Amino acid sequence: MSQRVLVTEPIIPSVIDKLESHFQVDVGERGTYNDEEALIEAIPRYEAILPMLSNPITEQVIEAGENLKIIANHAVGYNNIDLEAADKHNVYVANTPGVLTDSCAEFTIGLMLAVSRRFFEAQRYLLNGKFNNWEPLGFLGKELNGSTLGIVGMGRIGTGVARRAKALGMDIQYHNRNRVDKETEQQLDATYCQELKTLIQDSDIISLHCPLTDETHHLIDEGALSLMDDDTILINTSRGPVVEEAALAEALHNETIGGAGLDVFEHEPDVHPRLQDAPNCLLTPHIASASYQTREAIGMLAANAIIGILQNQPASEIPNLIQP
Ligand code: GLV
Repeated sequence: MSQRVLVTEPIIPSVIDKLESHFQVDVGERGTYNDEEALIEAIPRYEAILPMLSNPITEQVIEAGENLKIIANHAVGYNNIDLEAADKHNVYVANTPGVLTDSCAEFTIGLMLAVSRRFFEAQRYLLNGKFNNWEPLGFLGKELNGSTLGIVGMGRIGTGVARRAKALGMDIQYHNRNRVDKETEQQLDATYCQELKTLIQDSDIISLHCPLTDETHHLIDEGALSLMDDDTILINTSRGPVVEEAALAEALHNETIGGAGLDVFEHEPDVHPRLQDAPNCLLTPHIASASYQTREAIGMLAANAIIGILQNQPASEIPNLIQP
């Protein structure tokens, strides 16, 4: 009997077609597998799963997957997967690095522009019928040109943002676990800040690109927010829990910071109610990688890892395996 693959949500059809040319594929309905119980019930029937980042691939799920050989996440981030449990049960794990760098970096720049030039508030003003005269003092924002951008997490996406920001005339500093190589620093004119505190104090716009780990959970908390100026803008396209959402909402309402652009949330898909009516706060539903070509490339990369493992290709030849 042919091997079975569970794709937990509808994804770009060409990816499903590719998997179907090798395996029997079931595609879940949207949201069904955000539920751990539903995953535990289904997983014993499959050799491979292609989950979304909203699916909790916990120890219990992995344990229940008695036939499971690979988890190929439809995302570059993999904080939804218990890596230790996968390792213990000899299940391969793959993610999708590289293919979403450009779409996420572009989107991040879009958020920066939108918040610093107040697109969202301005559109609301216009649609509310308030635009009745050109205003010399209306919607004064901050130009990216000449502003200092502080990047937290200088991996692929952080570097992609830095490249674009440099082209827009921004000064770049970054904080990262490890300093990047000299050549990259020189190309980007980027200054390394060993202390996050220094980066926060010296940046006009702060953009988060670190993975979610125990160390980065609430990295931007009340204390970090208190170091920002009243016109500092915070952008988050990484993972919601990197920011203490309640503290951010408070800072925005008290106008102790200048604005925020958020594509990710602490308890997705819920959004803190106080963020929803906060001034100069632009909220988008986790769509930084949402271009057709990128979502297709994400799907294909995950599908290729599944095909490789289920067809006994050596693991060393599959470029996007995280472990073992
Ligand atoms: C999206 O958030 C991803 O991690 O790919």
